[in-house]
Amino acid sequence: MKKKPLYLILVMAALLVACSSEKEVQWSVSQAEVQAPAIIPQPQQLELGEVAYEVPSDNQISYTGEAAASARWLEQLLDGAGIPAGVSSSQTGGWQLHLSDTLSQLGEEGYRLDISDRGVQIQAATQAGLFYGIQTLRQLLPAALESGQVENQPVLLPELHIEDVPHYSWRGTMVDVARSFFDLEYLKKHVDRMATYKMNRLHLHLTDDQGWRIEIKGWPKLTEVGGDSAVKDGRSGYLTQEEYKELQSYAAARNIIIVPEIDMPGHIYAALRSYPEELNCPDYTNIAPRRATPPEPYHGTTVGWSKFCLENPAIYDFVTDVIREMSEITTGPWIHIGGDEIQDPRYEEFVVKADSIVQDFGKTTIGWEEVTKAEVSNSLISQVWHGRVESVVDVEVIQSICGHFYLDHANVEGQEHTNNWCKSDGITLEEVYDFKSEHPRTLGVEAPVWSEFVITDERMDDRFWPRSLAVAEIGWTAPDARNYEDFFERVQQQVGRLNAMGIHYYETPGIDWQQGQRSDQHNDVFAGFMPE
Ligand code: ACM
Repeated sequence: MKKKPLYLILVMAALLVACSSEKEVQWSVSQAEVQAPAIIPQPQQLELGEVAYEVPSDNQISYTGEAAASARWLEQLLDGAGIPAGVSSSQTGGWQLHLSDTLSQLGEEGYRLDISDRGVQIQAATQAGLFYGIQTLRQLLPAALESGQVENQPVLLPELHIEDVPHYSWRGTMVDVARSFFDLEYLKKHVDRMATYKMNRLHLHLTDDQGWRIEIKGWPKLTEVGGDSAVKDGRSGYLTQEEYKELQSYAAARNIIIVPEIDMPGHIYAALRSYPEELNCPDYTNIAPRRATPPEPYHGTTVGWSKFCLENPAIYDFVTDVIREMSEITTGPWIHIGGDEIQDPRYEEFVVKADSIVQDFGKTTIGWEEVTKAEVSNSLISQVWHGRVESVVDVEVIQSICGHFYLDHANVEGQEHTNNWCKSDGITLEEVYDFKSEHPRTLGVEAPVWSEFVITDERMDDRFWPRSLAVAEIGWTAPDARNYEDFFERVQQQVGRLNAMGIHYYETPGIDWQQGQRSDQHNDVFAGFMPE
């Protein structure tokens, strides 16, 4: 072997030193004052250090375990913040993601986030946990990243330690796509926004008197006829099964499970007009008082007048087919059967049968609280909305009590185009926030927006935001750790982000909404993003 010349050996040695010193990440302390972070929802435990660090110009994301997808989320986030970073499965980067079963004390969705002179480290036992650690980090980065408008300035991150686990497993919203239709594009947008604030269940109210919004291949007229109508001035339309699945994958990548609702045996006129022979009694005695007669559409807002012909056993063929198809296309564990606002001697029999059909297809039933008047299975989940039903079963509950969570009600007294039946003076941000559950079997909270008057995307945004920030915090943060004044101050700190994201929120009084660039576009930094 030929001897290497001395200068080559020296160059190689110098390179080796340079490479190994690259492994020692050492972020430098900035002279800037440490800004207290204003995170929503408030983390369970947050220890703020004394200094801030300047993010260096050269960055590497490292991950362990199965955290490759999370590394892509982080890469996308940093890219939006003007911090380009490479990704590798080594352990040497200044941005580290650790996924490990040994962190099981963090549960299904918890995470640990550390920022120190070694850089940023996020640890969790699950992908969901890492995802939420990244969402928290997102709120520590400049809001302008949401719209890709970050200025070329040093990015500072405070020294901190966060250990964070959600209080409730169910942190949801519900969109009524039946009265007025909201399409795939809007629903994806809504999912992006929910995920930013760590919400994880999107309930779709897919069917009602005014419209049927999900393709059922065995009963095509449901969408051909029933999908073609809407509430007065509302939008008609429906989701194909392919669109539904696309939304579901998009949501799943953001730790959000879709909960489909087929509302039965009442609120069913769109189906009754699509299949009048099969689903109605002779002379339409099941439609009373008669607000519409098949095949005419219904555009009104009155409830409680339509139902299946419950004495006709053939309706169960329909119910079975619909629940089978919904179970086949739904990856989440739940099917919501509605069950609200209808009187019939056979109501309880229907609900028990529908619950059993859902279980036959391997899913768990959810129903509005009225279903607990019947001896349903104890695996059923009751969604409480008026709180007046005396349940005959001991089941878990989702809290959607109208006076706190029905966000179709006015933001402030007198707001136009709002419902007002449970609170005539509206439901303020503070009233949403004030909710505390007394029920020992509470799974969590969910805020519906019914769309009798919510007929545009802008109105849907206005009803959900900023009040969904309060719902997100009730869902995530333990009641003892919540404080409205502190929350309100943090909402103020979120304004720049909400503006950059292009949300058409309601301008709640007392908040200065003129922060940063208000965009008309949907600009979420993760809009459209799917990690491979
Ligand atoms: C409902 O508001 N009818 C559940």
